[in-house]
Amino acid sequence: MNEHLNFDCFLGKRIHLGVCGSVAAYKSLDLLRMFRKAGIEVSVTLTDGAQEFIKGLSFEALGAFKVWERMFPTLDDTFGHLEPGQAADAMLIVPATASMLARMAHGLADEMLSCQSLAFRGRKLVAPAMNPAMWDAPATVDNCSVLAGRGVEFIGPDCGDVACGDHGKGRMAPLEAIYAAGLRAVAPDDMSDRHVLITLGPTREKWDAVRFWSNPSSGMMGASIAMAAWLRGAKVTVVSGPVNWWFPDDVEVIRVDSAQQMFDASMDVWPVCNTGCLTAAVADFKPVPHGEGKFKKEGRSSLGVEFECNPDILKTLGSIKREDQQLIGFAAETSNIMEAARGKLERKNLDMIVANPVNLPGAGFGASTNSVYVLDRAGRSEEWPNLPKTEIAWRIWDHLLLN
Ligand code: C5P
Repeated sequence: MNEHLNFDCFLGKRIHLGVCGSVAAYKSLDLLRMFRKAGIEVSVTLTDGAQEFIKGLSFEALGAFKVWERMFPTLDDTFGHLEPGQAADAMLIVPATASMLARMAHGLADEMLSCQSLAFRGRKLVAPAMNPAMWDAPATVDNCSVLAGRGVEFIGPDCGDVACGDHGKGRMAPLEAIYAAGLRAVAPDDMSDRHVLITLGPTREKWDAVRFWSNPSSGMMGASIAMAAWLRGAKVTVVSGPVNWWFPDDVEVIRVDSAQQMFDASMDVWPVCNTGCLTAAVADFKPVPHGEGKFKKEGRSSLGVEFECNPDILKTLGSIKREDQQLIGFAAETSNIMEAARGKLERKNLDMIVANPVNLPGAGFGASTNSVYVLDRAGRSEEWPNLPKTEIAWRIWDHLLLN
């Protein structure tokens, strides 16, 4: 369930992908495909070790525009060892072996990838993969700390089973983590001064031991907005209803069930945030609980359930909003969309509201696209065409940053 990572607004960016000799090498093919789908140009260098596991031709077939396999390729490519440093926006080494980390730490340039790495001044990321004993070895520990001190970013490794049957730290990070880190390395860093609170998903309002009141919100809109903010450098806190979107390790995710729990978590976090975007489909009402245990149907031909109001999280955050904070709300509407949205923008003291007509094909709950109207405090109002939710997420931040 990673549709919230389907950003394709990276046209004109280029990543240089280095691949080392490890059983995890084949995964870099998927990574190449994912970057290509996001509109990113990818060039590749395979070390000798990598070529034992995988062929350069596979990368070419999947859309790499250039693949290097050895140090002194041909006469018309005399400066291949410098080219990525001159033209790529970021360099990712996936998987990175212990020997590649050692070469990088010591400035060796005795084969193509380490030479290209030495000549690369831009952002460098490595996704190590190796046996836990090699990862824990003092030499590797020292090399990693030298590289981290020079600004090389590490993605993983994770704990788990490794290829040789051992268990421990050394398994390559999951592809989505490497992919997201790669996107962030080439994304604009225009939200790094922001700590963003996002609410997403439905809430569940318990009635008896086995039943609850809820709605079919998938949380995809909020998950896309959270990822877009993270990619653009923001610190992100997500308060998530009962849905299960993947987020990078440094996104704080607070999992809740009910509207009251979402309210409590959001109120806790809001004072330390400067931006809020509340996308959750919060149940406005909760059933008055039946009591302990399961309600029995025997002897009944109908059922009346009484409801009471839930707190309005958006309105409450708006009412305590400080000068240095900005707040975005969503509104699902059936008629008079602009008018209703403008009213909510004022009443809830928002900086921006994103309204969508419900029951349109390709919009709202569960869809991966949406059709929205955007209104803001400065009086601007726009109607956006039907777009992927990830694209809407990106544009929402563009719009807010204009203010
Ligand atoms: O008033 P309405 O329910 O249409 O407002 C929708 C907006 O308010 C959404 O941003 C939603 O996340 C938020 N909301 C909330 N708490 C509620 C109900 C809605 O934060 N109890």
